[in-house]
Amino acid sequence: MADKDGNKIAKDYHVEVPFANQGGFHVKGSNSLDWGMKKHLANIFDPKSGNTVMFAFDHGYFMGSTAGLERLDLLIPELLPYVDVLMGTRGALRTCVPPECRKAIALRTTSGSSMLNDDLSHEVIAVDIEDSIRMNADCMAVQTFVGADGQLSSLDNLSRTINAGFRYGIPTMGVVAVGKQMERTDRFFKLATRLLAELGANIIKTYYCENFEEIVSACPVPIVVAGGKKLPEDEALTLAYRSISEGARGLDMGRNIFQSEHPAAMAQAVGKIVHHGFTDKQAFEFYQDASHQ
Ligand code: 5RP
Repeated sequence: MADKDGNKIAKDYHVEVPFANQGGFHVKGSNSLDWGMKKHLANIFDPKSGNTVMFAFDHGYFMGSTAGLERLDLLIPELLPYVDVLMGTRGALRTCVPPECRKAIALRTTSGSSMLNDDLSHEVIAVDIEDSIRMNADCMAVQTFVGADGQLSSLDNLSRTINAGFRYGIPTMGVVAVGKQMERTDRFFKLATRLLAELGANIIKTYYCENFEEIVSACPVPIVVAGGKKLPEDEALTLAYRSISEGARGLDMGRNIFQSEHPAAMAQAVGKIVHHGFTDKQAFEFYQDASHQ
């Protein structure tokens, strides 16, 4: 029986030692997967840099119309050239994304609450596997609420999605939510990211925090970092730089791109950090130049 109390504290993260059992495929922890799963993951993570720029515009699934996302049909074509993955709802994707676009798709598959609820932690699987297949999704994104009221049902949603994903060869991205009551400490993120990976998620989306390298080290699949609330552009680029320098394999950024005064310049600046080794300072200079063109 599992004990909750009196456990030894984990501390041997060996952050300087590369992940073992990589076996040649460039996506962490995915070497033993089938060809179809690997193909989807290779659509998401650039085989050259190993990293990804995801553009998240799924906020409408619980926020409705959001500042900066009023006209997805106008925004998406402007940003398409500069991102690797589009993360959205099936409604937004089907209505506002040109099907001839060659970018990877991260399909938001859970929903069930809205800004009108005090507790956002109760969701259901809203998109069944057949529709994810029809949408040609490269991964299915499932919101999870570790430590919150909706923990059990959200982990059930995640497990069901992972089971269906393995059946049909579509990866699952487990999204770590932080709510009002949930702590934003490295202790919490270590628990949540590892838990989701052990349940079988192929990608974990989480937040940057202190001791991030240890979180990455202990998580056997790639981590992408959420942008969070809008920051000044230089600070958002520092967040991106720290995340990548400390082992994240990408950013899944929404508001810090689409609420920027210059979304296309910001998306490009993030890409410079993620794929081209720019520092935050270099990327900010790039942003300033690009926003004046
Ligand atoms: C919500 C999500 C959103 O896609 C993501 O958090 C939005 O991006 P950002 O925080 O950068 O605006 O997964 O849980």
